[in-house]
Amino acid sequence: MANVTVIGAQWGDEGKGKIVDWLASRADAVVRFQGGHNAGHTLVIDGNVYKLSLLPSGIVSGTLSIIGNGVVLDPWALKAEVEKLEGQGVAINADNLAVADNCPLILPLHRDLDGLRETAAGKGKIGTTGRGIGPAYEDKVGRRAIRVCDLAHLDSLEPQLDRLCAHHDALRAGFDQPPVDREALLEELRGIADFVLQYAQPVWKRLKKVRKAGAKILFEGAQGVLLDIDHGTYPFVTSSNTVSGTAASGSGLGPNATGYVLGIVKAYTTRVGSGPFPTELEDEIGQRLGERGHEFGTVTGRQRRVGWFDAVIVRQSCAISGVTGIALTKIDVLDGLDEVKICTGYRLRGNVYDYFPSHAADQAEVEPIYETMDGWSESTAGARSFADLPANAVKYVQRIQELIETPVSLVSTSPERDDTILMRDPFMD
Ligand code: GDP
Ligand code: IMO
Ligand code: MG
Repeated sequence: MANVTVIGAQWGDEGKGKIVDWLASRADAVVRFQGGHNAGHTLVIDGNVYKLSLLPSGIVSGTLSIIGNGVVLDPWALKAEVEKLEGQGVAINADNLAVADNCPLILPLHRDLDGLRETAAGKGKIGTTGRGIGPAYEDKVGRRAIRVCDLAHLDSLEPQLDRLCAHHDALRAGFDQPPVDREALLEELRGIADFVLQYAQPVWKRLKKVRKAGAKILFEGAQGVLLDIDHGTYPFVTSSNTVSGTAASGSGLGPNATGYVLGIVKAYTTRVGSGPFPTELEDEIGQRLGERGHEFGTVTGRQRRVGWFDAVIVRQSCAISGVTGIALTKIDVLDGLDEVKICTGYRLRGNVYDYFPSHAADQAEVEPIYETMDGWSESTAGARSFADLPANAVKYVQRIQELIETPVSLVSTSPERDDTILMRDPFMD
């Protein structure tokens, strides 16, 4: 197996960016295959912090970085991110960045609609990142999206704009908003087209060539399985499939290309935005974990909700995504606790569940069944070998492995790239 697919196995922010960056030095290409700039992936290299939303995390190490067709692309966000990273000394050019020419675009009208809907929903809001992700995917599936390749044909865009604007004008009228200003939109697209087009190409073809040459491909998922449009805590989810299977359809390769599935799993649980969260802690332990783990969103700066490790949801995610092995991150955040708890099942109206039921009301009502383990007072921060972990931390990792029925391949002990313990090499497995 030469290729590796990285996915988040909880509600996002598991530390995918750190692990992808760490693996990228051994890959020949890194591919984003779904989501958009709702993602926030943080890399720390020798104390320098890089925050990526749309660009694949391989770009920082200079690895060929590909934005696949499954991504929804905000061209202005792409430009801003490229400029920000160039300002940090990262070289980005048409040799190391490729954008699928069949990617649907996120336009200002999508961001508008995302905001209008969230405001109108009041307490029932999803808590989206406000980036226009949902509305852009709706237009893709509704067959009225403007795509990257259309930027090369703006003089004949009128029929497509008619179709798109007819839909949005009707929706906007319902929110007492003026119709889309088509001329202004077209002008904005004219202003950004050349920037995007310098990277645009049929990336499936590039990937075919890369693959034929025997190169190693690293697929970088965004969000997490519990935010998946089918398998997540619907409707409190994102609008794409975040599971490993999307790596193939979202980049233009077959399912046999996705290789080793590495699930990224935080040693506790977090979630940002609304929706069920059975092991959520609203006490001082939750506050302590949030502070130690710096649990604030990379994209929106919102405080993340924090809770104990939930083995039920991770076991489910591993099954749904065919996870070969996991990378367990942020174990250092648990240092110094007297005891740690793991959720091993749920209780719901007198019944015991070993899985997360599908119905939203059931998901909101389940009560976690906990197993309590002794904590550890020693520090795991910065450990680079399994032998350096305290005995109780080792027991915790082993118990997680048993409960989720999936082996641990990597353990991460700090935000820094090299503070990573390798147990099984995903590229060699
Ligand atoms: P992603 O969205 O899955 O890429 O994760 P984020 O980057 O949004 O959030 C993970 C946060 O945890 C980032 O600030 C990382 O720098 C940090 N991080 C990653 N791994 C570790 C770790 O093992 N220990 C600690 N303390 N922080 C980590
Ligand atoms: P990374 O890749 C955590 C959440 C939002 C909201 C829901 C829908 O950094 O792990 P959207 O804007 O996608 O329509 O919002 O999904 N969400 C994330 N939560 N990490 C992410 O990405 C997320 N991307 C979206 O908070 O609850
Ligand atoms: Mg994130």
